Amino acid sequence: MPTETVYGLAARIDQPQALELIFSTKQRPFFDPLIVHVSSIGEAKRLTTQWGAAANALAARFWPGPLTLILPKNSSVNPMITSGLESVGIRCPDHPMALELISKVGVPLAAPSANRFGKTSPTSAEHVEIEFASGVPVIDGGSSSIGIESTVLWLNESGSTAEWKILRPGHISSGEIQTCLAEAKIAHRRKEDLDAKASPGQMKHHYMPEIPLIMVLRASVSLQEVTTWANSKIGELPDQVEGVTLNKPSALAHGTEFVLPRDPILAARALYAQLREQSRLPTDHLIFFQQPYHGDEAWMPLMDRLKKASSLVFS
Ligand code: TXA
Ligand code: MG
Repeated sequence: MPTETVYGLAARIDQPQALELIFSTKQRPFFDPLIVHVSSIGEAKRLTTQWGAAANALAARFWPGPLTLILPKNSSVNPMITSGLESVGIRCPDHPMALELISKVGVPLAAPSANRFGKTSPTSAEHVEIEFASGVPVIDGGSSSIGIESTVLWLNESGSTAEWKILRPGHISSGEIQTCLAEAKIAHRRKEDLDAKASPGQMKHHYMPEIPLIMVLRASVSLQEVTTWANSKIGELPDQVEGVTLNKPSALAHGTEFVLPRDPILAARALYAQLREQSRLPTDHLIFFQQPYHGDEAWMPLMDRLKKASSLVFS
């Protein structure tokens, strides 16, 4: 299923066998919960025991769009979707084909990104076809306009003050969340001390391309210096981290610089396609040099993806 963020591997939430197929197709562990995609606010309300004023204001402002709300689930939501958690992630995607599909099926669709676990997310139908060797039917909705996954927002409205926390940064920033809640005159505060169990799926490595990506945080080092350093470190990497297999070539010879457009909107749109394309170049690793402008707030979600996609960080 195409969405404005990345392509999703979708299953009806009322069909356990289809849900199981998501995990087996992706080789995804059951501890990582799925996001449920709806085509309206009405459908979202039927999945949760707590649709309050804050959820309503945020959905009215940002849906359809790249915001996933984590809310208390009700008994209609299969625990396989939520990895046994009492909360469910809900989002209404901003893509006409996704919305049409969900409303025609008549049941919300659980969908993680349509990539093998730990690997680069897909932003085109072709990416999905390559990822699963054409074993999965794909609705071609063109290239994803945003290009990185939705902002995941944990929300609790059980008390007089709505508490929230961003679990995964995305196109919608914490500033926009705050502005929306303030404009709706909703008392709110950012939750700092959220129990780690409430936010699974925070693996250190994720989005990894087929050849190692090396992130360089230091100024003024050459490609060759990075390659020499990486060669001394790559052998020390474990084979797996939190279930994600790391790519460990025995020796790195020729690295290629990985450069994204300077504009963060264009960079997000290009990120995953470029990681896939550059992995097919005659090169054995990619090197991303951090620049001062990568510290801008709008670059934060991109730097999050790039860090997780990196096998090594040269700091
Ligand atoms: O943009 C997106 O969100 C894309 C498109 C397809 O909608 N989907 C996506 O799904 O990125 P996935 O499975 O790759 O990432 C979903 C992440 C999980 O890894 C987890 O971190 C978080 O969302 N999540 C889902 N349900 C949760 C829950 N109940 N509590 C906390 N985190 C949850
Ligand atoms: Mg994913």
